[in-house]
Amino acid sequence: MVISRASRIGARVVRELLSRRGASTSLARRHLGARRQSSPAMQPSDKLFQGALLQKHFFCSTTTADGAHGGCDEEKDKISVTFIDKDGEEKQIKVPIGMSMLEAAHENDIELEGACEGSLACSTCHVIVMDVEYYNKLDDPTDEENDMLDLAFGLTETSRLGCQVIARPELDGVRLAIPAATRNFAVDGYVPKPH
Ligand code: FES
Repeated sequence: MVISRASRIGARVVRELLSRRGASTSLARRHLGARRQSSPAMQPSDKLFQGALLQKHFFCSTTTADGAHGGCDEEKDKISVTFIDKDGEEKQIKVPIGMSMLEAAHENDIELEGACEGSLACSTCHVIVMDVEYYNKLDDPTDEENDMLDLAFGLTETSRLGCQVIARPELDGVRLAIPAATRNFAVDGYVPKPH
């Protein structure tokens, strides 16, 4: 309390001296800025502003694996994915790197069910990768994913579970078809009978 009061008085004295001598206001501003930085009681708005700056610095200065600067271009961090519904209607969306195709579909109002919300306990997020070239770029499915895929209606050689396909740069341009049966589960309220 005493220090902060002394500091306030000091700032006032400096202001008066500088204005008397006709010094530039930028010097006074520098002093006041330094005092504000050393103050232990930072205002919430200051904290928010600093957080925003830090975030911007982090994302804008991120360096990619190949040594290139990530920059601030958000589009660079997204890939293009096309979903094809059971009627053959195509919808192209941008998917952030690291997001699953199930999440991306839900964020873009694409009807991909995902009943278990990505916990590998259903097969309602079944998608068919349209191009083998892209299918081969995916990591191999785990045993758990294969078990669920075995239950999927209309299984194909390039079937995967949408919640397990994660956006990566090399998947830019991938096309995923949503089997009609997946959609029917949602529309008809179909519930598989227990064995
Ligand atoms: Fe259930 Fe993908 S949402 S396994």
